[in-house]
Amino acid sequence: MAGLFIAFEGGEGVGKSTQEAILGAYLEQQGHTVVRTREPGGTPAAEVIRNLVLSHDYIGLNPRSEALLFAAARGDHVERIIRPALDRGNIVICDRYIDSSVAYQGYARELGVDRVRNLSLWATNHLIPDLTIVLTIDPEISLARVTNHDRLESEPLEYHRSVTQAFLDLAAQEPSRYLVLDASQDRDHIAQVIQQRVNQELAARS
Ligand code: TYD
Repeated sequence: MAGLFIAFEGGEGVGKSTQEAILGAYLEQQGHTVVRTREPGGTPAAEVIRNLVLSHDYIGLNPRSEALLFAAARGDHVERIIRPALDRGNIVICDRYIDSSVAYQGYARELGVDRVRNLSLWATNHLIPDLTIVLTIDPEISLARVTNHDRLESEPLEYHRSVTQAFLDLAAQEPSRYLVLDASQDRDHIAQVIQQRVNQELAARS
């Protein structure tokens, strides 16, 4: 049986990691094997790329090079971690995936949504999540929650606003593959809605 691939997306400081942890623990309690991972990163080579793209040492990095680096990291992550886990029948919970590249590089950096998506589809041999959970909040509020801004978090507010809008546009294009939630709601309420939706996905497969 093939596993279930769940991605979490959203701007900075929306509480993705908290919800990922709650969902992971919940699914493990139900007897599932859960692999939690993140992008950029997840393999030794991809973690090296992560340090490069997030570092303040490379302010002014060419946006096309940035897009290629994210895709390169993703390709390794998928082939070595995500696809093998899905083949074993595990549930994969991934913090950010292709939509982050589409939103940040394609949309906010204006490199072209289709071009950036196609780059990652090629890098991953077309692996698309079964469900993408988008957490949204006004970037002004969420950025205030983040301390020690990395290179990308230091971008102007407009950049983050267009990232948030990009996630909403992507979700609107394929509503059956997305769950969009207002991240300013109560933490436990958000967790419950996510669990219900994931249970639906699991029921549809059994
Ligand atoms: P991280 O510290 O993991 O941020 P967060 O906790 O918000 O997920 O840093 C990841 C940063 O990289 C974040 O600013 C989003 C950005 N990013 C891209 O620009 N493109 C991508 O393809 C991915 C995966 C992340």
